[in-house]
Amino acid sequence: MELSRLATKLQSSLTLEITAKAKKLKEEGIDVISFGAGEPDFNTPKYIIDEAKKAMDIGFTKYTSTSGISPLKKEIIKKFKNDNDLEYTEKQIIVSTGAKQCLSNVFQTIINPGDEVLISKPCWISYPELVTLYGGSPILVDCAEENEFKFDIDSLKKNLSDKTKAIVITSPNNPTGSVYNYDELKTIADFAKDNDLFIISDEIYEKLIYDGEKHISVASISEDAYNRTIVINGLSKTFAMTGWRLGYAAGNEKVIKVMSNIQSHTTSNANSITQYAAVKALAAAGNEIEAMVKEFDARRKYMVDRINNMKTISCVKPKGAFYVMINVSDLYSDKIKDSFMLSKILLDEAKIAVIPGAAFGDDRYIRLSYATSMENIKNGLDRLENFINNMK
Ligand SMILES: Cc1ncc(COP(=O)(O)O)c(C=O)c1O
Repeated sequence: MELSRLATKLQSSLTLEITAKAKKLKEEGIDVISFGAGEPDFNTPKYIIDEAKKAMDIGFTKYTSTSGISPLKKEIIKKFKNDNDLEYTEKQIIVSTGAKQCLSNVFQTIINPGDEVLISKPCWISYPELVTLYGGSPILVDCAEENEFKFDIDSLKKNLSDKTKAIVITSPNNPTGSVYNYDELKTIADFAKDNDLFIISDEIYEKLIYDGEKHISVASISEDAYNRTIVINGLSKTFAMTGWRLGYAAGNEKVIKVMSNIQSHTTSNANSITQYAAVKALAAAGNEIEAMVKEFDARRKYMVDRINNMKTISCVKPKGAFYVMINVSDLYSDKIKDSFMLSKILLDEAKIAVIPGAAFGDDRYIRLSYATSMENIKNGLDRLENFINNMK
């Protein structure tokens, strides 16, 4: 029997696969250092865990309204006002099972067969897969390393067609760590206005930002940008809550309503206990985030310095998130032909797990996450350096 032609086109998430493989090797007693992590290596702050226990104790364990409980929506609205200067009403907010579900809901909501969605390349793995799943065509727009892997207007114009429906902005970015400034966002907002596009703004790494950079939401650029942008955010990265599965989206009421209708037939509400604890997480957000960002920043600087002092490889200093994209193209040879092969050899021979750039659409790179201890980073980079120095 034939399976869904669209669904069978999907690739599994390579990031998750490699992280799982490294974990398995570790469990077998092999000393592997993983740079694959897509989640903070910190625990969820205790005040949030305590609140989840309270939710269970008081029996907050039933279905909630599909789009999220009102106290949580109120905190999300406050967050948008305080952090992003954005005003929303409860009808403009949906709470979902992770930012990933928000993205899934929004692509399902806006895409008709053949619609094209502009995505910067290198890109986070799930965007093109989701767009494909819902019958659209992901258009991967080359973003040059010299431009910190950000969209430039000429390439956007070149990739525009009469089928272009939306543009995805991820700032801070996974996998590149790049952060868009006001002028760059304004240029994209104008482009979206001129061509009547939705803007999907994934701001999940909003709080993980360094070097005095300020996160700006493209929705805050103008009234027009506000009306055409669906902002995606969540608690996974900021509060080290990846396993709790809590994301949220904000935007045009009509779009949010359709997203909610979809969710009502798929997963219903986000976990009630998580929602209860999320109210407290957002209301009391504070020192833990600062401490985590400080630690990430120290690791980032160390990693970038080490890499740029190694021969043959180099990287741009990322300004946000917790990833470094390393240009390894000068390592390629008859023996190591591409990033998949390099990643495999690094795992087998150097015992370090990295994500091949091909998984993000660009074979010249590998991605290293610094969401692992400084000790691991030091040891892992020693291994990488030895491997490079010993290459023939
Ligand atoms: C850019 C980006 N967006 C969204 C997500 C998904 O986040 P969540 O855990 O909230 O589903 C991730 C997770 O890796 C991500 O890197």
